[in-house]
Amino acid sequence: MIITIDGPAGAGKSTVCRLLAKALGYVYLDTGAMYRAIAWALKEKGLTCAEDPECAACLPTLPLRFFIAEGALTITCNGRFLDDELREPEITREASRISQSAAVRSFLTEWQRRLASDGRVVAEGRDMGTVVFPHAPVKVFLTADLATRTQRRQAQYREKGISVDYAELEAQIRERDAADAERALAPLRPAPDALLLDTSGMDISGVMERLLRFVREKDRP
Ligand code: DC
Repeated sequence: MIITIDGPAGAGKSTVCRLLAKALGYVYLDTGAMYRAIAWALKEKGLTCAEDPECAACLPTLPLRFFIAEGALTITCNGRFLDDELREPEITREASRISQSAAVRSFLTEWQRRLASDGRVVAEGRDMGTVVFPHAPVKVFLTADLATRTQRRQAQYREKGISVDYAELEAQIRERDAADAERALAPLRPAPDALLLDTSGMDISGVMERLLRFVREKDRP
């Protein structure tokens, strides 16, 4: 069983996926972190243009490792665990930019399928239900209005002690969503058979209840 959860930035995907994977005893596969890791590793090498043939050729040689540990995707670069550094604003921007590259997408799609080959995975991203796992029995498209998503992101930053300007954050989210939704390859959009869930005005327990009910309905023989 593979559960796909796609949606725009700040829709609450990470929190929901982590909780859902834990509740079901599934692996949590955060594919956005893989795009961020590629952006990070390319930057370390001084390469920024993913369309550059040199860049595409070097993808398999990047010192990145993707593996599952303690129920979740874990990423190392030259043996160093990558986590918070992948959330930096520059990497966030770069990840969205390099995600438009065909070479990067096919490299990561192959990895994502390999990592999910044992099943029992909650896969979070933009194209999980449409491209990477089109036959997944449970697909969800999670969204929320822009104000809700901006407020949630601002609260996350605040928790980390980082203060960000609301208007600037809103503009960044809007810009990234447009880039992710309008790109030619694997654009952000719901799969035709996905449950569309607008979480504006919903709290996390309400979202979880709805999703667990949906999973149970789909899992019935
Ligand atoms: O989910 P996230 O914010 O960590 O994702 C970072 C970027 O990676 C996002 O702007 C678009 C890209 N991405 C993608 O193109 N496809 C995915 N399956 C996941 C992320």
